[in-house]
Amino acid sequence: MILVTGGCGFIGTNFIRLWLAEKNEPVVNVDALTYAGNAENLSDIQDNPDYYFEQVDICDASAIADVLKRYRPRAILHFAAESHVDRSITSPEAFLQTNVMGTFNLLHSALAMWNTQGQPDGFRFLHVSTDEVYGSLGKRDPAFTEQHRYQPNSPYSASKAASDHLVRAWHHTYDLPVLTTNCSNNYGPYQFPEKLIPLMIERGLSGESLPVYGDGNNVRDWLYVEDHCHAIMAVLEKGTPGETYNIGGNEERTNLDVVENLTNVLQMMKPREGGYRELIRFVKDRPGHDRRYAINPTHIRDQLNWYPQIDFCEGLRRTVDWYLSNRTWVDRVKSGEYRHWLDHQYRS
Ligand code: NAD
Ligand code: DAU
Repeated sequence: MILVTGGCGFIGTNFIRLWLAEKNEPVVNVDALTYAGNAENLSDIQDNPDYYFEQVDICDASAIADVLKRYRPRAILHFAAESHVDRSITSPEAFLQTNVMGTFNLLHSALAMWNTQGQPDGFRFLHVSTDEVYGSLGKRDPAFTEQHRYQPNSPYSASKAASDHLVRAWHHTYDLPVLTTNCSNNYGPYQFPEKLIPLMIERGLSGESLPVYGDGNNVRDWLYVEDHCHAIMAVLEKGTPGETYNIGGNEERTNLDVVENLTNVLQMMKPREGGYRELIRFVKDRPGHDRRYAINPTHIRDQLNWYPQIDFCEGLRRTVDWYLSNRTWVDRVKSGEYRHWLDHQYRS
């Protein structure tokens, strides 16, 4: 079986759902259920005999060692992280704990397990990271390759950069068969509505202002979450231990362009008198706001034959459709009810 950390978050949820639909292999999900972890995301598969859940903090060394001893996974896919840049600016400590110490703890326990088992060739530790570790690009700079210098600018990206370095060191020093992926901005179902796209959908539907930071010309490279999950599967299956794979959508867009597109899709699917565009407001910029990210996907395309399948317009339509069709999920996230689901579900 495989072990996924952070499977109750946005990308982890999409990954587990896709894995169980497409692969014939059990998965154990290790998640601490922070504010970003929503066990309800997987409530419909909780009785699937191929799905196991462990509510464990990756910083808890003995609990992680115990989970590895019980499940003996043939691969660890490490998604768990504090992931929101704005939160890292106001409260960086949790980012250092989970992203740095939590990753160290997982590597340490994974290495112990791998050594105890006689270092099986097929074992993999796949670390899910971000393009933000490379810092900010100028308008005409070439997109990030895997050789780009690390220049993280936010507490979030600095903590992810530190975790990438730890993963690299565990390969170089101890031969642990690691893989690292650095991906651009994801969007799609189950994303917590603090991130740009779901935040704008929800505020728009409530008739609230759509707050665009600064001049709205910061550029991100958008990838539909299902494409990211398939890229991770390709890296797990065919990637070379010790290598890094950049993953992107070939969809560089300014934030203003993203929000304007979103207002068009919302107007098509849920018409509002006067439209949604009039709700856009330019607000105070994020401190240290990186200007542009862009991924050069040549390496993963040439080595693993992976390409994104869903373009931005189609992805945006699917995403808006999902948020419109899943109002109970949204309401329970907004009210905080989702945090009590496990207690209710398993109360004896
Ligand atoms: P998320 O914030 O939606 O989910 C994070 C999950 O990790 C939650 O379920 C949370 O409960 C869990 N978690 C947090 N701290 C934990 C701990 N100490 N122990 C166990 N579980 C813990 O994040 P996401 O957007 O799904 O991102 C997943 C991974 O992908 C992260 O490593 C992130 O850096 C990376 N990434 C995200 C994006 C993106 O656009 N969202 C892009 C590239 C890379
Ligand atoms: O690039 C990959 C990264 O993408 C991931 O590693 C992070 O985990 C993920 O959160 C995301 O980081 P960003 O900071 O790019 O995502 P966010 O959705 O917070 O913001 C996207 C852009 O939109 C960014 O330039 C800031 C801007 N923004 C964001 C919010 C929440 C706004 O203009 N207004 C907003 O209200």
